[in-house]
Amino acid sequence: MNLIFFIKSTTVNIDNYTIKDIPGSSGRLDVISRCVLSAILGRDSFEKNIQIWVFLDRYGTFIFNPEFIDYEIFPKNELLFSDYFVKFLQKHSVNEEHPPNILNSIKVSKMRIIEAIMHFQTLNYKLYVLCEQGKDFFKLLSGIKENENIVFILGSQEDEYIDSKELLALKIPVISIGNQSYLASSVIRLLKLHLLAL
Ligand SMILES: C[S@@+](CC[C@H](N)C(=O)[O-])C[C@H]1O[C@@H](n2cnc3c(N)ncnc32)[C@H](O)[C@@H]1O
Repeated sequence: MNLIFFIKSTTVNIDNYTIKDIPGSSGRLDVISRCVLSAILGRDSFEKNIQIWVFLDRYGTFIFNPEFIDYEIFPKNELLFSDYFVKFLQKHSVNEEHPPNILNSIKVSKMRIIEAIMHFQTLNYKLYVLCEQGKDFFKLLSGIKENENIVFILGSQEDEYIDSKELLALKIPVISIGNQSYLASSVIRLLKLHLLAL
């Protein structure tokens, strides 16, 4: 099974970034960092057949695909990862040559989230939106598991994009893992747990 997670943030802004207060100085880049790590990190290696696409309104679209990333040198904790990602974004946003950075293997895409959704629809991926008000994931689990290729779309700090007209117009099935509001990174871990039966 190939799993792709989409997460979009309108708030990430590293203009006043300081490692001393990542959440407060980066527009909650920490939420994105936790999602990337929970998506691609397995027990002692990267997950197989899992990618996460990060859509940052201010900086663009970044693809974390373990096929192209060196596990040995990859920053595996939130603080280190966030700091490297910020340095990557700082260079990327001024179009400067990227000095050696562990994250240079991040793929950059010109696709906005709506184009990426349509791209994977044409590739016959099954897409689901994650939202508390959706249909019960656990009741649909056996059917979901029949899909070979799946894209899960999550909100980051707020549900802003999840509730957007643009996304609702696509009538993508909406699924819920319960009435409680979970961190996006916890939702990713729970989906992996149930779909990959790790
Ligand atoms: C921290 S939540 C967003 C804010 C949260 N909905 C709130 O109202 O405080 C981050 C994302 O995780 C996903 N999520 C959180 N709880 C969920 C649940 N119970 N079922 C499905 N998705 C959930 C949604 O995609 C949501 O946009």
